[in-house]
Amino acid sequence: MRIAVLPGDGIGQEVTAQAVKVLRALSANNGPQFEMTEALLGDCAFDAHGDPLPEATLEAARRAEGILFGAAGTYESDLRPPESRGGHGLLRLRKALDLFANFRPVYAFPELLGASSLRREVIEGVDLVVLRELTSDIYFGTPRGIDRTPGRRSAHNTMRYTEAEVARVAHAGFQAARRRRRQLCSVDKANVLETSVLWRELVGEVARDYPDVELRHEYVDAMAMHLIRRPRDFDVIVTGNIFGDILSDAAAMLTGSIGMLPSASLNAESLGLYEPVHGSAPDIAGKDIANPLASILSAAMMLRHSGGQEAAASLVEAAVRRVLAEGYRTGDIMEPGATRLGTQAMGDAVAAAIASLR
Ligand code: NAI
Ligand code: MG
Repeated sequence: MRIAVLPGDGIGQEVTAQAVKVLRALSANNGPQFEMTEALLGDCAFDAHGDPLPEATLEAARRAEGILFGAAGTYESDLRPPESRGGHGLLRLRKALDLFANFRPVYAFPELLGASSLRREVIEGVDLVVLRELTSDIYFGTPRGIDRTPGRRSAHNTMRYTEAEVARVAHAGFQAARRRRRQLCSVDKANVLETSVLWRELVGEVARDYPDVELRHEYVDAMAMHLIRRPRDFDVIVTGNIFGDILSDAAAMLTGSIGMLPSASLNAESLGLYEPVHGSAPDIAGKDIANPLASILSAAMMLRHSGGQEAAASLVEAAVRRVLAEGYRTGDIMEPGATRLGTQAMGDAVAAAIASLR
């Protein structure tokens, strides 16, 4: 499998190195082989080449079957104009590769039930996926702008979805549900927004192709409530870009730490960009304390969805669970009685668990 490795900035570099370590452990003893090409994306790319997404990086990404990404940006660069902003390089890459389907699985590891701010009986057994549309909606719709006429300032954005955009993410949602517990919940605000009226209509039409999947619709405000109250009721949740942004962060917190959450952003082919949900964490960068498990679990998603290597993906996930069951924790998921490990030692532990599990 050809993999483009884009560690990016801050802890992105530290955690991605652990995911690479785990892939190498998989390759040992006649395991699957990976051709990894490392390239720059983010502030590091801007500093080296004056462009947060250099042409060579885009080329490496296009040539790859899977892209393993860390994080891009810093608080300082976030305030610069887009051309020189590390995070903007990532937005350009997602757009260039048409990565419209952003999957964020939220799984409550039985070993970590104590790490959530919610009660154990609420989160025990939570196993859901938020599918967020990533390339359209109010984030990209035009017209948009700010009118700064003194005393009459106003601002506007446009929420727009086309038939093709909704249909393709709906298909992705139904197909994901088919591989899981066959329940799809579509989230919109059809009681207020025309965009959502069309969204609901189109999802209903696509549903005819999937009679074996149970479809339910929720308004986004009610969904915010259900997600916290009864998260076990959900299997796959499909929604637009802005509702997905907010709901997926809320869903992420069901499991305790952002350092545990992987994600996949896929296009219509099988190419995908895989990254931890977290950012570059400038507050802990360079200290060898970041949790690398989100990055390692992202690599497992890559093996499964872009590599067709289900067995290898399951082995990585089993190794993560083994390490947690043995009581090893990074600081963000630390609990009494557990053994604290740094970033690199956690990567070593998962690599060792792979060797012992196979
Ligand atoms: P962040 O996710 O980087 O950090 C939020 C908090 O979570 C921090 O306290 C951090 O220490 C902690 N944290 C994050 N990942 C962790 C890990 N693996 N282990 C332990 N603790 C962890 O989000 P923040 O602070 O909003 O953004 C920092 C920078 O990252 C900004 O420049 C932002 O633009 C960028 N960012 C990039 C993303 C991407 O590349 N996809 C996503 C989110 C933010
Ligand atoms: Mg967000």
